[in-house]
Amino acid sequence: MTALLLYNNLYESMMATEKGHSDISQVIADTAYLAYERRLLSEVKQAQAPKHIAIIMDGNRRFAAEIGLNPLDGHKQGRNKLEELLNWGMEVGTRILTVYAFSTENWQRNPEEVKEIMRLFEDSFYRAGDDKRVHKHRINIKVLGLVSSLPANVQKAIEYAEGKTKDYSEYRLNLAIAYGGREEIIQAIKDIAGQVKRGEIDIEDIDDKLVSRSLYTADLPDPDLILRTSGEVRVSNFLLYQLAYSELYFVDVYWPGFRKIDFLRAIRSYQQRARRFGK
Ligand code: FPP
Repeated sequence: MTALLLYNNLYESMMATEKGHSDISQVIADTAYLAYERRLLSEVKQAQAPKHIAIIMDGNRRFAAEIGLNPLDGHKQGRNKLEELLNWGMEVGTRILTVYAFSTENWQRNPEEVKEIMRLFEDSFYRAGDDKRVHKHRINIKVLGLVSSLPANVQKAIEYAEGKTKDYSEYRLNLAIAYGGREEIIQAIKDIAGQVKRGEIDIEDIDDKLVSRSLYTADLPDPDLILRTSGEVRVSNFLLYQLAYSELYFVDVYWPGFRKIDFLRAIRSYQQRARRFGK
């Protein structure tokens, strides 16, 4: 199998170069990578995939700085990586993806960068609403967060993507934007307190189910796996209530440089860990 792959890669790469010769060591490295990726994929497919994966996509700016790009280019590469990730998730059988794209703390960044990120979001939601894959695989797109705090043009783009996918339930893509885990919990407390005050429920009725139903993720199971890129080992105000039993996985690559083998390794690690839920 690997020999055939190597032969095909060599052939394609020779055809692709004008002079008819290529960097053989790169071809061999790519082939080894592809073979490893395929082996990992078949290994991962033999066990249960996490139903819900949540990702803290960190390191766009550091990735850009390392290769001499500006921060916006880093964010664009980050957006492209997310589009790639959608394919990987579907390939392993994960139905729900939740990604952290913009936290409540991110408003404190340089206003010019925030403006550029908002422009990128606007463009990305229109792109997502028109994406053939989204419709072919019936992916329901939702934003989790304080949507009303976003600029009107971004809200309009979100409405477009959410509206065009509202009847889908095969897959779910949640984008946490203007999102903060503490704010989400505070909002849930306020909602529940309001119900108690109006006499709709008793204090005794407040339980895990009711709190879960009062969060942005009300209709979803908690994430099985939470993954963070860029080597930071923190949760940074992401899904604070929902992560009670999630497996955590930290990987030392910047988000735009996240490869399929990194994704597959994370799934394999999740599958290998005993999931005892404290029992
Ligand atoms: C994280 O890296 C990136 C952000 C907080 C900005 C927004 C995310 C994207 C543009 C990717 C997803 C795109 C869409 C359209 C949902 P960072 O800026 O914190 O980088 P650093 O850790 O190197 O500073």
